[in-house]
Amino acid sequence: MAEEVSLREEDIPDSGRIVKIRGLEIGVFRVGGSYYALLNRCLHQGGPVCTGRISGTLLCRAESDWKFEWVKEGEIVVCPWHSMEYDIRTGRSLAYSGNPLRTYPVELRDGNVVVKV
Ligand code: FES
Repeated sequence: MAEEVSLREEDIPDSGRIVKIRGLEIGVFRVGGSYYALLNRCLHQGGPVCTGRISGTLLCRAESDWKFEWVKEGEIVVCPWHSMEYDIRTGRSLAYSGNPLRTYPVELRDGNVVVKV
């Protein structure tokens, strides 16, 4: 049976917040008015990814004529151990395809952010 934790929106800083549910550490983040929850375990070597800084990332692609552009400001969390970047909205690593970080459903209920595990 799922367990849940409820946080007030104002208790989630821009840097995100770590909560513990069922023995798991989970990072809760706000991006563009929506909330996301990611397991605080980096896919690289298990580092505490959700305690990393919130950032954007450099992108170089045909659409920008192969010039570097800074994108996704506020949507990326950077693992503090070896700087792997993850998209908070999806849990996906920007550098590697394959499995994303584990994500959990989040809903807004009466002004509270509810994470279900
Ligand atoms: S443990 Fe996260 S980048 Fe290495």
